[in-house]
Amino acid sequence: MLAYRHAFHAGNHADVLKHVVLVAVLRYMALKEKGFRLVDTHAGAGGYSLEGRYAQQGLEFENGIARLMARDDLPPAVADYVELVRRFNSGAKLAQYPGSPALAQMLLRNQDQMRLYELHPTEHKILASFLGATPGVEVHMSDGFGALKSQLPPPTRRAVVLIDPPYELAADYAKTLAALREALERFPEAVVIVWMPQLQKLEAAQLPKRLEASAQSGGRKGWLLARLTLAHADARGFGMLGSSVFVANPPHTLAATLQQTLPWLAEVLAQTQSQHALERSAGG
Ligand SMILES: C[S@@+](CC[C@H](N)C(=O)[O-])C[C@H]1O[C@@H](n2cnc3c(N)ncnc32)[C@H](O)[C@@H]1O
Repeated sequence: MLAYRHAFHAGNHADVLKHVVLVAVLRYMALKEKGFRLVDTHAGAGGYSLEGRYAQQGLEFENGIARLMARDDLPPAVADYVELVRRFNSGAKLAQYPGSPALAQMLLRNQDQMRLYELHPTEHKILASFLGATPGVEVHMSDGFGALKSQLPPPTRRAVVLIDPPYELAADYAKTLAALREALERFPEAVVIVWMPQLQKLEAAQLPKRLEASAQSGGRKGWLLARLTLAHADARGFGMLGSSVFVANPPHTLAATLQQTLPWLAEVLAQTQSQHALERSAGG
């Protein structure tokens, strides 16, 4: 049932968009002294070899992070993220890619907490051996969609939730929407980041509008949606055209950061086409 392995996709354009946003949000959260809790509902293995057979099969990172490493005109938010990727690699060579838990670990402070959920036994094992003994970090081999009940609101009343499922199962779309709603019901101030693929599929097309409606009614500070379209669908209408990141209660600086960053990413990551869009609520 759990066939998805993120190692095939690590460092691709979708990871780039998601991780640029994640890093920008965590930087913002760290501006205040008070600690926060990051809940990563679909954490993956934590870090990935780009030289291993999974990543080498599709070489997806070559059209993602590798294109960025070769540039000397990075916008500040991209430069910050690329610097963390460099730090995760021991030398100048791009051999490893940090997943969301590794990126977060480089940014979290002693007063912050990380709660990682990963269902795949192999991915969980790698994640647990990487971060399981780190103070402030808990690694759970359980359903991340069910995690919010026990994790929100956190004692410090500051939280970021990353919802990043594989969307292999059609049910992931409905569960993602339900998870956003639950997060905001439990803690209306939570910054909730949702990654979504752009596919020619009804559920994928409908999810952003549904998330917007839920954040509008359940959140405190509106929402923001960043979309990067980089390819055309194939003749049968298959293939990932790009991806989107939705943020409920976005930091007030995020829209300006993405306005500067998205056009650059669209140009540098373009495959057969490129478009970018930034939408936000009146208060977002
Ligand atoms: C897209 S990957 C996560 C990548 C990671 N967030 C990152 O940015 O580096 C999705 C992960 O979710 C795991 N997974 C699938 N269903 C899950 C569930 N219900 N609860 C927790 N993990 C799940 C998969 O095994 C996979 O490792």
